[in-house]
Amino acid sequence: QKVGVIGVPFDKGQVKEGVGQAPDELRRAGVIESMRAVGCEVTDYGNITYEFKQDNKKVSNMIHLEHIAACQEEVSKKVQEIVSRGELCVTLGGDHTVSIGTVDGHQKAKGDLALLWVDAHADLNTNATSPSGNVHGMPVALLARELADYWPYLPGMDWQMPRISIRNIGYIGLRDLDAYERLTIDKWGVAAYGMDDVLRLGALEALRQIRRRIDPRQRRSLHLSFDVDSLDPLEAPSTGTPVRGGLSLREALALVEEVRRSGRLAAVDLVEFNPAVGDARDRATTVEACRSVLRAACGHSRSGALPPDEDLP
Ligand code: ARG
Ligand code: MN
Ligand code: MN
Ligand code: MN
Repeated sequence: QKVGVIGVPFDKGQVKEGVGQAPDELRRAGVIESMRAVGCEVTDYGNITYEFKQDNKKVSNMIHLEHIAACQEEVSKKVQEIVSRGELCVTLGGDHTVSIGTVDGHQKAKGDLALLWVDAHADLNTNATSPSGNVHGMPVALLARELADYWPYLPGMDWQMPRISIRNIGYIGLRDLDAYERLTIDKWGVAAYGMDDVLRLGALEALRQIRRRIDPRQRRSLHLSFDVDSLDPLEAPSTGTPVRGGLSLREALALVEEVRRSGRLAAVDLVEFNPAVGDARDRATTVEACRSVLRAACGHSRSGALPPDEDLP
């Protein structure tokens, strides 16, 4: 398996410093080598940079839209290129606004796709419903075709068209939803599985049901958007909006391994790791959680693999 990695040191979808340092922090910790050790041929394309064009047209309750629009356009182009080349595109965020770019790029490369959003949050606000104005709480609402009419004109975002149906988006790990996010999920019948569903069904059965709903014919290209705050803060404390009562690493790895086994995984985002939150030990715990999620995405199996043919007696 060929893997193409990009870093997106972007932090303007929320207000805490530090999440932009995550890609380099993860590289320093050797996650690229860890992915190679799984047997993947990994190319690191480095960090995405963008040119900020001063833009005075502001949109209400959407912080730093000009930066988001400019950066995510570059992310989209790069992801489209990597996915088109047939490499598994791994994006190291950055806050969750980077998925506006990654999902757009994946969609442009593959057409139809199914999106699995692993998160404590639904990230389904619009600027009219967001309690914070932080755009990392809005990416899914920007991506979903059915919600296009709920947005005003967004300057700088003309490159992005909401082409994914909300019926092809599934959530797991939810436990902190805003009122209008709940309303949207109910209105459209979104495949949204919270921690209560994980408890009742088990993580793997919940995933099976989600996949049956977002990709019934099992033919779509699969996009995994993994927010580290889906994990319990005991497993991943270094993140900007932690919510207790989350996924264990055991559950998360089972999910990612199962997604990987589908054979259709084309893009993975790992977002919202903030090395500036907590102390050195929190940071190390979170890095190790990220490393194991990335290894699982690259095909590592905890049940072990046989030695390569040429080494057999
Ligand atoms: N729902 C809250 C908001 O809209 C929190 C979103 C947190 N999102 C995230 N990607 N961590 O501001
Ligand atoms: Mn998120
Ligand atoms: Mn989140
Ligand atoms: Mn919250």
